[in-house]
Amino acid sequence: MKTIIAIDGPAAAGKGTLARRIAGVLGLPYLDTGLLYRAVGRRVLDAGGDPANAETAEAAARALRPQDLDRGDLRGPQADAAASAVAAVAGVRDALLAFQRDFATRNGAVLDGRDIGTVIFPEAQAKLFVTARLAERTHRRWLELQAKGEDVDIAAVEDDMRRRDEKDSARDAAPLRAAEDAFILDTSTLDADATFRVAIGFVRARTGLS
Ligand code: DC
Repeated sequence: MKTIIAIDGPAAAGKGTLARRIAGVLGLPYLDTGLLYRAVGRRVLDAGGDPANAETAEAAARALRPQDLDRGDLRGPQADAAASAVAAVAGVRDALLAFQRDFATRNGAVLDGRDIGTVIFPEAQAKLFVTARLAERTHRRWLELQAKGEDVDIAAVEDDMRRRDEKDSARDAAPLRAAEDAFILDTSTLDADATFRVAIGFVRARTGLS
């Protein structure tokens, strides 16, 4: 089997930065699976639909094209909320499962998301669950928004993050949780370099890749 590395965890825990770096070092393709849910949410909004409507959301997921992932408007509060809503629809998750498996089984891959180690690739050779305290994740997201020139209230960012965490964890369809055999990496007190060092050590030991 090709090498599959699953990196799951809540928003702003540092998994995207980490996953991209691991993929670069090991020469594996990288897929940010959150973008799939974001692109489905966008398609629904474009058509004037309700992202929480199961039928509409599933139809948008089945019509998803790779070029939808290149859109420039997949981030921001509207896209966040639409993605979280469509991600709770079982039919959407089902439609996106094949896309993710196809992407990764050809050459192996590093995938980051919420259910990679539990649902999409339970057989992944290395699973990481990257997390951090809510206050820390809020601060990081707030800094990101500030850097983009968006002057937002930190309490609003925390509220939004807490609501999305609850929705992602409480939904029936593939809720956010660590796989039993995942290595739990709490990045609350680690910067990106320290996080990378710990993670790559674990991944190398598990996969035998250098
Ligand atoms: O990681 P992100 O913030 O880009 O994810 C956007 C939304 O999609 C978020 O609400 C969680 C959801 N998601 C998911 O349910 N499963 C995944 N594999 C990836 C993201």
